[in-house]
Amino acid sequence: AEMNRELREKLITLKKERNAIILAHYYQRDEIQEVADFRGDSFLLAQKAASTDAETIVFCGVHFMGESAKILAPNKTVLIPDERAGCPMADMVNVDGLRKMKAQYPNAKVVTYINSSAEIKAETDICCTSSNAVKVINSVDSDEIIWVPDKNLGHYVQQHTDKKLIIWEGYCNTHDMLTVKDVVEMRALHPGAEFVVHPECRPEVVAMGDFVGSTTAILEYCKNSTNKEFIVGTEDGTGYQLRKDSPDKMFHFATKFLVCPNMKVNNLKKLVKCLETMQPQIYVPPAIADQARVSLERMLQVK
Ligand code: 13P
Ligand code: SF4
Repeated sequence: AEMNRELREKLITLKKERNAIILAHYYQRDEIQEVADFRGDSFLLAQKAASTDAETIVFCGVHFMGESAKILAPNKTVLIPDERAGCPMADMVNVDGLRKMKAQYPNAKVVTYINSSAEIKAETDICCTSSNAVKVINSVDSDEIIWVPDKNLGHYVQQHTDKKLIIWEGYCNTHDMLTVKDVVEMRALHPGAEFVVHPECRPEVVAMGDFVGSTTAILEYCKNSTNKEFIVGTEDGTGYQLRKDSPDKMFHFATKFLVCPNMKVNNLKKLVKCLETMQPQIYVPPAIADQARVSLERMLQVK
């Protein structure tokens, strides 16, 4: 506790010196969410990165999030506490594979989940996050959509649009781990609880949800619900905001495995260190960034 106090004081000084803001995804460790200027889901944090006046953005999340921030704010310095915090789902699609799919479906437009690399975004018509996926798809002027890389979110979106999705086979290792059996067991233990679930989970698990939505949608739902008890089908870090919003409610994570190890690579110590050393910085080759920016900015403009 004493060490964290010292680290937090150091952070305040460094933030002023570097004219920095700290953005933290809801899946980050509590000690990071506590000191962030903004906590948010992928969409809100991308918006913040695009609109901030700060010179330095410290992005506490996984690599593709820092990359998206750098693409949207190319003149700013974007730091991440640890370069090794990647997203396995983002790595499940490669440029060659996507180009082959585009050649196979020449009339389709490519909609890419923000959980992807800059190179993939550069091959994309428009990006989306889990909070705006259906809106984005419906805004595209094509009936055929190549969807990368999340098959589970793709399956969910397909149920909410008339367009035809051609779905890539990627998935989030963390959300995909949750099974029907896990949820059945939790419901038996907590019969009064509502099950809230992220659409990155398997279709058969999502189908069990009393509420299905992105991280922010789940937080909003639980805050406003008159129910007092929830089984949570998304990453464990959301517990910080859920409990902050509703100290009187009970939140049971559906399994103890709903932890994204990559999100937890960051900690307060590394956060302070990256602002001190101004390393590691995100670099995106300008030619890739310019192409990728088009797909991200289109997403930000969808109403
Ligand atoms: P959202 O923040 O859009 O809910 O995305 C979830 C996720 O898995 C981020 O890595
Ligand atoms: Fe990637 Fe899943 Fe971790 Fe999000 S929770 S960063 S999608 S592995």
